[in-house]
Amino acid sequence: MKKPLIVIIGIISLFVGQACDQQQSTTDQDSPMLSSHTEQAEGNEAGEASAGPDSEQNEEPGIEVVTDPQSVAVLVNEEYALMDGYEPDDLVYPDIPFIFEEKVEKRLMRQEAADAVEQLFAAAKDDGMTLLGVSAYRSYQTQKSLFDYYVAQDGEELARTYSAVPGTSEHQTGLAIDVVGEDLSCAVEDCFADTVEAKWLEENAADYGFIIRYMEGKEELTGFKYEPWHLRYVGVEMAQEITKLGVTLEEYMNAVPVSDQTPIEN
Ligand code: DAL
Ligand code: ZN
Repeated sequence: MKKPLIVIIGIISLFVGQACDQQQSTTDQDSPMLSSHTEQAEGNEAGEASAGPDSEQNEEPGIEVVTDPQSVAVLVNEEYALMDGYEPDDLVYPDIPFIFEEKVEKRLMRQEAADAVEQLFAAAKDDGMTLLGVSAYRSYQTQKSLFDYYVAQDGEELARTYSAVPGTSEHQTGLAIDVVGEDLSCAVEDCFADTVEAKWLEENAADYGFIIRYMEGKEELTGFKYEPWHLRYVGVEMAQEITKLGVTLEEYMNAVPVSDQTPIEN
């Protein structure tokens, strides 16, 4: 699915002006491998018992609400939603360049992720390349506007392969950021994977606590197409372990693959 840069920037610009309050709080970084067993894992098709993310059953069958949205290890996907109205309480503006100048909502990240992304961008600079932020935090309402736009454009089935249903986007956690290289080539497009910036991120992102969240060939597990530009902060130790293992966050957390609940047809 191609989404030309001009369209993406146009859509993103619809949401300029939505800024959020900044407050401080702490985060935890419990080992995800020790996360508690969930009802949803018991109810999966394979009937496998597994340690899954901390969550509670939602009213909608198969959907869980995460109980630890403030954890930097939180798993959020189509099966694990954020609680209604969730807004991180420690959003700040990282001191990094974006593809736009305005001080708006999509520049925000949680404090710990913001500190880490500043270090990541500085390290890239030391290695001779300039990274730019495209989009970081999104409120529920912003994600809803985006998702609704994509559904109107491509239909819901296709839209769900690249845009998260409101309440299930990592961008709402304040721990995710989409990035691009200085020349803006292939911004939020598949060909970003072939850029020097993408290769550098594959090699180095984990050392600053980030994983390439939506991996190639793992679409059935994550529920989303490959997004080499979407970085998710999980903390250095966990990022290095996940990257070394070459697994998705779903696999690392022993979560039920998204496709076991909602068939993905590309
Ligand atoms: N593009 C990612 C999956 C999101 O909408 O959160
Ligand atoms: Zn993203």
